[in-house]
Amino acid sequence: MNEKQRLESQQTIKADTVASKPEKDYSKYFQSVYTPPSLKDAKKRGKEEVEYHKDFEIPEQFQGLGKGRKYYIRTYGCQMNEHDTEVMAGIFMELGYEAVDSVDEADVVLLNTCAIRENAENKVFGELGHLKPLKLERPDLLIGVCGCMSQEESVVNRILEKHQFVDMIFGTHNIHRLPQILNEAYMSKEMVVEVWSKEGDVIENLPKVRRGNIKAWVNIMYGCDKFCTYCIVPYTRGKERSRRPEDIVQEVRQLAAHGYKEVTLLGQNVNAYGKDFEDIDFTLGDLMEELSKIDIPRIRFTTSHPRDFDDRLIEVLAKQGNLVDHIHLPVQSGSSDILKIMARKYSREHYLELVRKIKAAIPNVTLTTDIIVGFPNETDEQFEETMTLYKEVGFETAYTFIYSPREGTPAARMKDNVSMEVKKARLQRLNDLVNEMAREAMEKYEGQVVEVLVEGESKNNPDVLAGYTRKNKLVNFKGPKSIIGQLVNVKIINAKTWSLDGEMIEIDEQVEVV
Ligand code: 5AD
Ligand code: SF4
Repeated sequence: MNEKQRLESQQTIKADTVASKPEKDYSKYFQSVYTPPSLKDAKKRGKEEVEYHKDFEIPEQFQGLGKGRKYYIRTYGCQMNEHDTEVMAGIFMELGYEAVDSVDEADVVLLNTCAIRENAENKVFGELGHLKPLKLERPDLLIGVCGCMSQEESVVNRILEKHQFVDMIFGTHNIHRLPQILNEAYMSKEMVVEVWSKEGDVIENLPKVRRGNIKAWVNIMYGCDKFCTYCIVPYTRGKERSRRPEDIVQEVRQLAAHGYKEVTLLGQNVNAYGKDFEDIDFTLGDLMEELSKIDIPRIRFTTSHPRDFDDRLIEVLAKQGNLVDHIHLPVQSGSSDILKIMARKYSREHYLELVRKIKAAIPNVTLTTDIIVGFPNETDEQFEETMTLYKEVGFETAYTFIYSPREGTPAARMKDNVSMEVKKARLQRLNDLVNEMAREAMEKYEGQVVEVLVEGESKNNPDVLAGYTRKNKLVNFKGPKSIIGQLVNVKIINAKTWSLDGEMIEIDEQVEVV
């Protein structure tokens, strides 16, 4: 589908959506662009082939749009959002805008939002509250909301009703239309709403302004088809679309040539990489093997889904080299019954078996995870199964969350007999375990020599340098600023729960570096 056809189809969505809500016909407020989202449409998974475009360029009439203007983007949520911000920064730069570090200096402010839990959304509405007086003071300031929240009709409706001062809303599938959307917002007195409920094609050569020149994110796929019952992502990010291997390899090669030391491959469910290719049989394992040949010290990926984590990938990761020995493998729950209602499509036993295979192939592997507590009707026994699984796997750390109902997802319609008090108590117990095991994992490093990628000054102390090991442990140590961006060896002197203190050393051949 080309751009014109897609826009026409979006107009159809607009007409349908508006027609199905006669009591609230927001379109009457709009003379210009009004394409609202629909979670119902976002749920559909069509058979149409994804088109790949390599011909992105700023249309001539928008060149220079940003001359003398400044932009600021505030990013919420995951690495995918951080990376989308880098792309939008690239587009702003090509339009001639200047980047600034604060809302006060900016002529355009974008909130790149996250919809994964209610508290993420509350933060954004809080920020909109702060922006309102600024907009009243400076009516020329453009305020935009983009990212995952924009894909939800309840959010768009709330902004339309309560935050009329917002100038533009656009979603995750059309960030490449930023020039057109900005232009429309300058021209129009109305709020510009352009959200595509159906995912877009893959657009390859979008400009990027990367944050830093040491570590880089590289998208390998977009979207998610897993539809775990609690998760909004398959609706906000659309169907799974993999980037072609040659485009990914080329991007990583270029990053290596520019001196980047670490690449994190991004996707909502990276283990499904390649499943959508019809012409080639090429999986994440195959991709990792290709990337392992590139001269760049570290390659990671996030996030994995245990269901699609196959033997081929394990075999390739076991060769290590530049493929790091740290795997983030979200388990969500240790109870097979809860996993079933979450529609995770694996059981506790399957997960443990996968862990056993990974550990057999990569004995020094570090595993970390994501866990949701207080899923609807989770019993004490089911929660205890999460605790025992955590210990049995020996995770080194975890992101832990209380279940947050997301409108439009199946779990949000489930009755829930667990009180918030119980959920909070479970989270506390789990976090105590996570901290205890994180501390134990860190203590093992005392006396060892680790390879650290030096990222800069420590946030808390400018006299100290900070960087991360291959297993993503934060290390603080004293050293000259000239080594920022380099890999150095550090002997660990003191372990804390979330960081290690060490001393930089020259190594001789005898010392094992981990
Ligand atoms: N409530 C709480 N946590 C959630 N996550 C995803 N959806 C929800 C939700 N509705 C968590 C999962 C996922 C991580 C990115 O966020 O653990 O792996
Ligand atoms: Fe959400 Fe991850 Fe499940 Fe996809 S695999 S639905 S992103 S939790």
